[in-house]
Amino acid sequence: MQAYSKSFAVDSTTGGDAHIGQDRFLFIQSFSTEKFESKKGDSVMINGKKIFITGGAGFICSTLIGKLIERNDVIIYDNLDRNSINNKDYFNHSNLRLIKGDVLDINKLAESAKDVDIIIHAAAIAGIDNTIKSPVRTMRVNMLGTANVLEIAKNNKLERFIDFSTSEVFGSHAFKVDEISETSIGAVGEARWTYAVSKLASEHLTYSYYKEYQIPIVTIRPFNIYGPGQIGEGAIQIFIRKALKNEDIYIFGDGNQIRAWCYIDDMIECILLCLEHKNAIGESFNIGNARAVTTIYGLAQIVCRVLNSKSNIIFKPELSADIELRIPGTTKAKDLLGFQAQIDLDDGIRRTAEWYQAHFDEMPELPKMFQK
Ligand SMILES: NC(=O)c1ccc[n+]([C@@H]2O[C@H](COP(=O)([O-])OP(=O)(O)OC[C@H]3O[C@@H](n4cnc5c(N)ncnc54)[C@H](O)[C@@H]3O)[C@@H](O)[C@H]2O)c1
Repeated sequence: MQAYSKSFAVDSTTGGDAHIGQDRFLFIQSFSTEKFESKKGDSVMINGKKIFITGGAGFICSTLIGKLIERNDVIIYDNLDRNSINNKDYFNHSNLRLIKGDVLDINKLAESAKDVDIIIHAAAIAGIDNTIKSPVRTMRVNMLGTANVLEIAKNNKLERFIDFSTSEVFGSHAFKVDEISETSIGAVGEARWTYAVSKLASEHLTYSYYKEYQIPIVTIRPFNIYGPGQIGEGAIQIFIRKALKNEDIYIFGDGNQIRAWCYIDDMIECILLCLEHKNAIGESFNIGNARAVTTIYGLAQIVCRVLNSKSNIIFKPELSADIELRIPGTTKAKDLLGFQAQIDLDDGIRRTAEWYQAHFDEMPELPKMFQK
């Protein structure tokens, strides 16, 4: 708690909205006597809800759905640019409905999300490769798509609206960043910041709907999530897929970029807590595993060691501005939700590799720049 009060004091002196700062400060203070304790294995139960998930076919939410589907009705709204749901064994579950649609189509969104209890908004253009290919689409989908989903949220009596931002909003040097650390907008023209700014703008918009329309929002900022089912970009899955075949692993830049790696099951546990716990409403959370930290070069070496691979590690010129250092401060999630990531890197890599080994044939090709 101490950390928040100190940081909020700093926040309101840096030109932030003093009223909002004080509001949230008082809320957190009043909460401080009832820390939420949860231990790994506590099952958080969401029951009998109608849950609408944009980007539900993607890596994170297709995994989340496995935890929700038995006791709830789930609607996926996704344009299927990426598809991690089709290889889940609950893909044909009678409680699951898949609507192919674009978040830029507000009429279809409104039609599809009638009378829902919970909205989880994860649809986004993610990954540097995508942003380089189409910065316009990145900005439009991430900003205008979020604006559309928030607008249709107003038509429902929602119990929760979960929004996914990104750790990228904290810029190039993000050491133990907490939820009210300064965000960064970077230089115009750098693909990396195009993505970060599109997410940051949608984060501000989401919080504004909480202030103005009392939509019960929660913003989650994932810090490098990996695990079974990831098919987009993401260094671990690319390194693992290469290492399993003993193919060259490419590192863009000098490889000393530092990251914290969070296994998908930990992320899912935290989303469930955000859905369940009233203290999450109106809050943002930096979610990652601050103990599973290594450089990108170190990660390639760990993957090769854990998987006993003969891959060579090859360095290539960097692609765009990079994040030098990114480790989350996770005290707020621990204090308010009882969340702490549990799965260490070796274990997570082993579990992820087992999954890729079993699903190689179903994997889409890696983006060109990662291929041989
Ligand atoms: N995985 C991570 O480490 C990470 C890190 C930071 C932020 N995030 C954010 O978390 C969320 C989920 O991430 P993920 O890893 O599951 O990503 P993902 O790319 O696997 O999933 C995103 C989904 O959105 C869908 N989509 C894209 N454009 C769409 C559109 N216009 N209309 C409808 N659907 C569309 C895609 O088809 C995909 O299924 C995203 O918002 C992402 O930006 C993830």
